[in-house]
Amino acid sequence: MVFAAHSERYSRVKNDPRLHPGLLAEALTYGRPEAIAWYERPFLKKVRHARARQWGHAVALDDVPQRYLRTLGLPFPLPPVSFVGHHESHAMAGAATSGFSDAAVIVADAIGEFDTFTIWRYCRESGLRRLYRRRYPDSLGLLYSAFTRRCGFRPNEDEYIIMGMAAFGRPRYVEEIQRDWIAIEPPGFRLRRNVHRGIGDWLPNADAADLAASIQAVTEMVQRNAAQWARQASGSRNLVLMGGVALNCVANSAISADGDFADIWIFPNPGDAGSSMGAAAAHVAGPVRWPGPYLGTDIQRALDPAAVVRLLRSEGIVAVANGRAEFGPRALGNRSILADPRPPDMKDRVNRIKGRERFRPFAPVIPLELAHAEFDLPVPASPYMQFTARCREPERHAAVVHVDGTSRVQTVTAEQHPVLYEILRAWRAETGCPMLLNTSLNSRGEPLVNTWDDALTFGRREAVTVL
Ligand SMILES: [Fe+2]
Repeated sequence: MVFAAHSERYSRVKNDPRLHPGLLAEALTYGRPEAIAWYERPFLKKVRHARARQWGHAVALDDVPQRYLRTLGLPFPLPPVSFVGHHESHAMAGAATSGFSDAAVIVADAIGEFDTFTIWRYCRESGLRRLYRRRYPDSLGLLYSAFTRRCGFRPNEDEYIIMGMAAFGRPRYVEEIQRDWIAIEPPGFRLRRNVHRGIGDWLPNADAADLAASIQAVTEMVQRNAAQWARQASGSRNLVLMGGVALNCVANSAISADGDFADIWIFPNPGDAGSSMGAAAAHVAGPVRWPGPYLGTDIQRALDPAAVVRLLRSEGIVAVANGRAEFGPRALGNRSILADPRPPDMKDRVNRIKGRERFRPFAPVIPLELAHAEFDLPVPASPYMQFTARCREPERHAAVVHVDGTSRVQTVTAEQHPVLYEILRAWRAETGCPMLLNTSLNSRGEPLVNTWDDALTFGRREAVTVL
């Protein structure tokens, strides 16, 4: 894998579904494609849309990939286009980058063509074999999004806010959710009603945090059942989690704590953008040499760790924009805001800069060899912020601990990110503090900054120094 990026970083439109000319131009500096692999089967999707129209939903039918690709003005004749099923591309993105010789794979998302929830057995030699599927309109992702909307947030966008809110509520509506919306039938589930259009103002007097806690608990039940079943059905001790639901780090940690699996791999871009990688892997029918998540636009500047630590000590907050952009939703040190996690007002300061809700916590980044002394991590390492862990000394690191006493930890080694590792080493040498706050370099509702100019614009607007 030589290059991977998100259109939104170029167009500055969050979740931009169209291929941006800037992204295409940058990709083409690595050569012209001999083949194009597409992450879903458009014909199947059309069938679903046609059915949806019968149900009275207005859905556009402009998704024939070749026709779409020709509108992009590519400077070469269109090469052959192959199609990979949507859930197969999700599953393959995880399996092909896992390094496992065999694994159980669970894919849970909102919807692709028809499949919404699948379980696979992966073998390096023979590839993927599907063991279980649920199909639209049964969808765990759509149900979570419906609750996201019910709580006043944007569906398909703000699900992580619901997950954060869940810690403030009590799961008092789990039974009602099962009565009205979902029948849990291991290893999957069945929805009692179509939730594609939301759940209206279901339980209008319920507290949003309690609703969030309840749908979070239901999601964890479904995912844990699936993992248990997958362990038996696959015979493998390795698990791969994919699809948008795999961004739910609280559910991931619950699965991990159950201990059915020796190892869990979640590709750091488990959602639809990452399935591009799976489509490519399915096309070449084999594992992919994946060099890590830093695969996008390169900002070629020298970053001096000592200068970063100096600013952290004087200002408390510094922005870093260096090296290749992260492929995936999390900033992992190349497009990050770093801050001192200790001052009581730091959470509010950084939330103000980012324009976020005041209750939301931030993630800590910590050298791997120190992580287990500070956090009860359910996994040996968490380099991509995919698991939560109880913080041992929450009062000393207030800005990176949630109300329930947990943190979404990023562990780092010198091999993974030498500069970030050196910043942490120097920071600890000077202050005794083993971790930093790490959050994405962007304002609310904006994609991660991509270029040095984007970073400077952010720095000027928010009065934060960018290095
Ligand atoms: Fe998907």
